[in-house]
Amino acid sequence: MQKKIDELIKQRESITAGGGEAQIKKQHDKGKLTARERLELLLDAGSFNEIGTYRQHGCHDFGLHEKTYPGDSVITGYGQIDGRRVFVFAQDFTVLGGSLSHVAGEKICRVMDLAYENGTPVIGLLDSGGARIQEGVDSLVGYGEIFTRNTLYSGVIPQISVVMGPCAGGAVYSPAITDFIFMVENTGQMFITGPQVIKAVTGEEVSLEELGGASTHSKKSGNCHFVATGDKECLEMVRRLLSFLPSNNTESPPDFMTEKGEALLDDEILSVVPEEPNRGYDMRKIITGVIDSDDFLESQQQFAPNLITGFARLGGRVVGILAQQPAYLAGVIDCDASDKGARFVRFCDAFNIPLVTLVDVPGYMPGKDEEYKGIIRHGAKLLYAYAEATVPKVSVIIRKAYGGAYIVMSSNSLRGDINYAWPTAEIAVMGPDGAVNIIYRKELEASSNPALEKNRLVEEYRNKFANPYVAASKGYIDDVIDPRETRSKIISALEMLEGKTVDSPAKKHGNIPL
Ligand code: HXC
Repeated sequence: MQKKIDELIKQRESITAGGGEAQIKKQHDKGKLTARERLELLLDAGSFNEIGTYRQHGCHDFGLHEKTYPGDSVITGYGQIDGRRVFVFAQDFTVLGGSLSHVAGEKICRVMDLAYENGTPVIGLLDSGGARIQEGVDSLVGYGEIFTRNTLYSGVIPQISVVMGPCAGGAVYSPAITDFIFMVENTGQMFITGPQVIKAVTGEEVSLEELGGASTHSKKSGNCHFVATGDKECLEMVRRLLSFLPSNNTESPPDFMTEKGEALLDDEILSVVPEEPNRGYDMRKIITGVIDSDDFLESQQQFAPNLITGFARLGGRVVGILAQQPAYLAGVIDCDASDKGARFVRFCDAFNIPLVTLVDVPGYMPGKDEEYKGIIRHGAKLLYAYAEATVPKVSVIIRKAYGGAYIVMSSNSLRGDINYAWPTAEIAVMGPDGAVNIIYRKELEASSNPALEKNRLVEEYRNKFANPYVAASKGYIDDVIDPRETRSKIISALEMLEGKTVDSPAKKHGNIPL
């Protein structure tokens, strides 16, 4: 027996060596951890159970029969994060550049299937040169199988992609279908075609990082939700995100009470919104002022900063927060903000996370650029997502709520459950200036003193509509609240809505305007 155990130990040592010492050194020299080191940091200590440990590729072409590695280029299995089970796969760049063989594809699909069958999140640590070139179509099919599972399990179990190395070509479509993408600065890169192909096809010269690095995808393309400065920080961030998510779509998110940071619950909250209606302010001050313990995990922080999205707890309950950021583009809704908001709303709705919406929005972004970009189609996504969502929806109008942008932000006509407004709220078809220009155009043209007349009409309009009371008198606003009551009012509303059930028409699926 001892002989056999010794043999097992030897085999295990060879498996944990991955692609060998030289490749591990190369990996470290690039500032990257190995797949096994990453799993150790991601999972609770000692909780990892590997499966598929001995599987090997079956390719005999291009000299690959001489290169075999037990486990091939991906490590798969399950473990725990904060005592809750997760399934994981980690691509091992030290083995043939982490390239996806048919077997590696099968190993990944196996953990995805197990995650689905057991109602558990699946986390992929990506670091790969893409389809294993030597295997040809077999490896491409491996991706197809992964994409199919990404799609079928979407909305059933949380799927998280962590881009810690290259993720090239069609391989990027797996992370793109998953719920959240993390990227590590300088080492994580995603692109459909690399710099050399781009140069050959279009003549354009671009570096790898500029093309597909974390900064590009978090600020410009919006593909990336969370950016980390290194592997360790990134894996800690993944653990933090998991602390807000349920394990599957039949469960509630993990609620627990933390201590409240008393930052803005007193009179301080009264001074956040400036007296001047067109001055910006930082909406984050209001968010952190009302949530538990200032524990706000912002998603896509650097993309479309005019809309803030993120997870927090209120009275211990996990919520998804959407809020305009008046400090950036006055909090206007543009194409990018619509996409960002719609996807966040749909994630929360799929996973039973109530939505809290803080509104200060001057409207949808006007202009040729946005119209040509498709603000109609993109803006409609946000409307669709809010109207479709059946989780509890609570909103507070802080200041402006104009036009279609008022309607979209969780209003009661889109099945919003509770709609509050601060006394500073202005609910109207549009801002006073624009409205007066349109409805009093002829009068202003005929006036001997148009500037004075306009001021008078703007004031009149403001008195009539730029307050929450007209909308409240018609039942569109449930109550006008003192800003200092915001936290307690939201918590009470969420408590009241805890058992909410709502019917929607039966259908195969809707047709969100993509
Ligand atoms: C087989 C691969 C490989 C691949 C890398 N390697 N990519 N082997 N198939 N796709 C091997 C290398 O030969 C090398 O082996 C080792 O991995 C490390 O690679 P290096 O090039 O030395 O590493 P580095 O300099 O860090 O460059 C990493 C890289 C580069 C940028 C990812 O390797 C690269 O450009 N690879 C090809 C990327 C690509 O175009 N993939 C196909 C995408 S299309 P040795 O033995 O020398 O150490 C695709 C289709 C998906 O994936 C379709 C889905 C539907």
